Amino acid sequence: MRRAIAAVVLAAALLPGCSSPAKDGATDETKGEARKYVIGMSQCNLGEPWRQQMNKDIEAAAAKHPEVEMIFRDAQNKSETQQSQMREFVQQKVDLIIISPKESRPLVKPVSDAMAAGIPVIVLDRKLESDDFTCFIGADNVKIGREAGKELAKQLGGKGSIVELKGLMTSIPGHERHNGFMEGIKGTQIKTIFEADCGWLEPNAQREMKSALSRFEQIDAVYGHNDPSAHGAYMAAKQEGKGRENTIKFVGIDALPDEGVRYVKKGILALTFQYPTGGAEAIDTALKILKGEKVDKTITLGTRMFNKENVEAGGVPL
Ligand code: FRU
Repeated sequence: MRRAIAAVVLAAALLPGCSSPAKDGATDETKGEARKYVIGMSQCNLGEPWRQQMNKDIEAAAAKHPEVEMIFRDAQNKSETQQSQMREFVQQKVDLIIISPKESRPLVKPVSDAMAAGIPVIVLDRKLESDDFTCFIGADNVKIGREAGKELAKQLGGKGSIVELKGLMTSIPGHERHNGFMEGIKGTQIKTIFEADCGWLEPNAQREMKSALSRFEQIDAVYGHNDPSAHGAYMAAKQEGKGRENTIKFVGIDALPDEGVRYVKKGILALTFQYPTGGAEAIDTALKILKGEKVDKTITLGTRMFNKENVEAGGVPL
């Protein structure tokens, strides 16, 4: 719709004999206002602090560009809802879509359909099982998992029994964080004695850890695929009432200042890794795409490691 209007305006401006009121192309001819780009953002859920942060980062970056109008949708952790949000954005003919998908498979077709309709799509944080999108932005989850394994192995002196509380295994970060971790502990005497898919959610992790604690006398560490999972495990150990929360090393990922980083400062977590939301980068990239510039297909974000020694100094980049 907006593209169509822009095309008509442009055509009129190019007609011989017509005056061209727009001086530098991208402005509204009559009022000098900036052109509006409508960007739809489908967030898989807003129940987790990390996702609230992602939306805040997008909002803050978009606020610096008066020509950008954002439409936010929350899929409430349901892939079907997210699928229909994609269809809604296509019907509305938004100029660009940002999606942070819940699962890797169910969103493949809706994203392809948007691309086929000529709407560029930026996939943020969780990958899709497809190449049909404009750009993927996210941190390297294999690397984060590997560094988690290596650093934990160091802290455990190369041996121990661990519990792995996985993220949702129908999403790619869960697999990548697992595979990377296995690489990181390769060649050590660390063995996994219990593992469960906790769907990224703290209550699930707390419940699974409760059963791990009741089955195993000796647990040296917990590798949670995100900070809420690691914290849920800590709470389960604390509630057991045997003081095991003081001897088990809890490892998480995300490192929000008010969540994981605070837990490391308080001695609850032994380790966490920054998992940037990519919100600001998504808006920068969206604007480049909308202005017709070429962007890389994959934009990989960095990470930082936080442990007891470096947390006060802001962690170390990896
Ligand atoms: C939030 C979250 C984060 C995690 C990311 C992985 O939904 O679970 O905690 O790092 O998703 O995609």
